[in-house]
Amino acid sequence: MGPIRQFVLDLQPSGIGQIAREGLDDPEVIPLWFGESDLNSPSFVNEAAKQALDDGKTFYNWTRGHLPIREGLLRYHQKHYGIELDEDRVSVPGSTMLTVMITCQCLVEPGDEVILVSPYWPNIRTVVEVLGGRTVDVRLQEGPKRWWLDLDDVKRAITPKTKAVYVNTPSNPTGWVMSREEQVALLMLCRERGIAIISDEVYHRNVFDRPSPAPSFVTLAEPEEPVFILNGWSKGWAMTGWRLGWMVHPKQLAVPMAVLSEVNNTGATAFVQYGGLAALDQGDAFADEFVARCGRNRAMAQEILGSHPKLDLLIPEGAFYLFPRIKAPMNGLEFARRLLREEKVGAAPGYTFGEGNEQHLRICFALSSTRLETAFMRIRRLLDRI
Ligand SMILES: Cc1ncc(COP(=O)(O)O)c(C=O)c1O
Repeated sequence: MGPIRQFVLDLQPSGIGQIAREGLDDPEVIPLWFGESDLNSPSFVNEAAKQALDDGKTFYNWTRGHLPIREGLLRYHQKHYGIELDEDRVSVPGSTMLTVMITCQCLVEPGDEVILVSPYWPNIRTVVEVLGGRTVDVRLQEGPKRWWLDLDDVKRAITPKTKAVYVNTPSNPTGWVMSREEQVALLMLCRERGIAIISDEVYHRNVFDRPSPAPSFVTLAEPEEPVFILNGWSKGWAMTGWRLGWMVHPKQLAVPMAVLSEVNNTGATAFVQYGGLAALDQGDAFADEFVARCGRNRAMAQEILGSHPKLDLLIPEGAFYLFPRIKAPMNGLEFARRLLREEKVGAAPGYTFGEGNEQHLRICFALSSTRLETAFMRIRRLLDRI
């Protein structure tokens, strides 16, 4: 045994990466496996970042984010959530992904347990395990009309080793949007048991049939309690490649956050932060139009796939994924492989989103409607054939 951790040597890409590797370079494949659209980032965002480059925003700076972007976040929270946030609670260390890692660095010691509300985005599990923690799945209830969380399931999963509950709302991959009542109930339980909440709200703008943004723990958490609200620019403003996210954390962590941010990334890329600031200040119309486009795509999915006898499909309330159960003598991975080979459509196999999801498939519906319609017709063709 050499010095490299066996855990690291054993790491494998998630099921999304596994299947994408099989068809990533094929231009005929319609890619519905990743969580992004084919829209370019808004031009006013690009312009702001270019201007920042020309203005010399290329130096080290405050590792919790440049002052203008943190002030922009305070305005954003005031405007969209009606709250006055303390500046000490807001940090911009880099990507949303990094806020997940840093939050877990604050909470997870070897042997600790983190409850993951499942189905979940696979990276959260890897983060907990990298830090020596253990994940415990609590699966959402499936149907009849929507996914929902049974709080008794969470209660049953809590042990003396439980440090945190991770929820992602709106959810990747189910599209579940946690109601305010559900959030209050979970918060009460966690307060009572001394457990932290990690609320991943990166899809906060991506909600249907209700005002945007989605209900947030940010309006409920007391400034000093262990509730971490993680967010970012990727999903609301078509900015996945910018690698920019923010977190709202307990006030007493302002100084430790500066240090953790420093040792993880030494702050978010300087000029990129100014693109993010433009999105916060001027990006409402873009975010709303993007949701409208995804809403039309969701309606098309319902029309083409919704009533297919070989699919159980709950209509997502948010984010931009379908997460149907395949009712056929093959699992989600086999279906995804055949879909790729025979119909040139890339989808993610359900198993990668936690136990109990082996019959499922994740399909991103954020692409332009013409490509998406072709992809949905191809999926239907394969379903008809199997
Ligand atoms: C639930 C969830 N959280 C966090 C992230 C990471 O976001 P970012 O790309 O902004 O780092 C993703 C990305 O797909 C996600 O789906």
